[in-house]
Amino acid sequence: MATLSERADALEYEMSRELERRVAERRPIRSPIYLSGIYDPADPRHDMFDALKDDKPFLMGPDPRIPLMPEKPTLMDFFRLRLGHTQHLLQSAKLALTNGHDEKVVLACLLHDISVIGFISGDHGYWGAQLVEPYVDEEVSWAIRAHQVLRFFPDPSVGYEYPEAYIKYFGADFTPEPYIVEAYEQFRNHRYYMTGRLICLNDYYAFDPATTVDLEEFEDIIGRNFRQPAEGLGFDHSPSAHMWRTMNMPTRAL
Ligand SMILES: [Fe+2]
Ligand SMILES: [Fe+2]
Repeated sequence: MATLSERADALEYEMSRELERRVAERRPIRSPIYLSGIYDPADPRHDMFDALKDDKPFLMGPDPRIPLMPEKPTLMDFFRLRLGHTQHLLQSAKLALTNGHDEKVVLACLLHDISVIGFISGDHGYWGAQLVEPYVDEEVSWAIRAHQVLRFFPDPSVGYEYPEAYIKYFGADFTPEPYIVEAYEQFRNHRYYMTGRLICLNDYYAFDPATTVDLEEFEDIIGRNFRQPAEGLGFDHSPSAHMWRTMNMPTRAL
């Protein structure tokens, strides 16, 4: 008679075999942007061509290795099922709430690095702003875009200094490129400047592993400030719907 733990092991083994089988039937395809650097993009090696060589059909839907999203996914579903390391965002939003900022600022903090943890990290402020733009007040998306740039520049009027963590992240010799300085010159006189600056102020540079903030704390703020489409994020034909679909099905071939 098998013990409970033996039966659990057997079940887990069967489940992983089943998963392998499903993945083996159709080839998940990583986009060139995720492989570029590991391979020279001009190199003929590519997931898609490899799949063709193997006579495998491309994966054209959800990747069976990650949790299935609901048919009409909400922002909360993306937080729960697709975004990694959400504590940074949750802690930033909590800080903004504790510091007494209004809901637009709290939402901007909650979403400011959504691209880093769900989509693309390079130029994440711009990608993140574009993702949420159809669903939030223009002040929120403007601030998310601007934080990409503003975080490199001190603002003594609010006590913001160049983050010490950046010396560790980027090296002591890092200086922002000219296009970043140009963007800063544009952003610093904008009417929403302070909202972008507040994202930087409430950004948690020292990630605190001792604190856990629950997503549920922000459910009402999201409900009031994020226009969730009835069709689900990705299926409402908004200008960024395709980006949400890519996050939903990151290895869909085409
Ligand atoms: Fe950021
Ligand atoms: Fe951040």
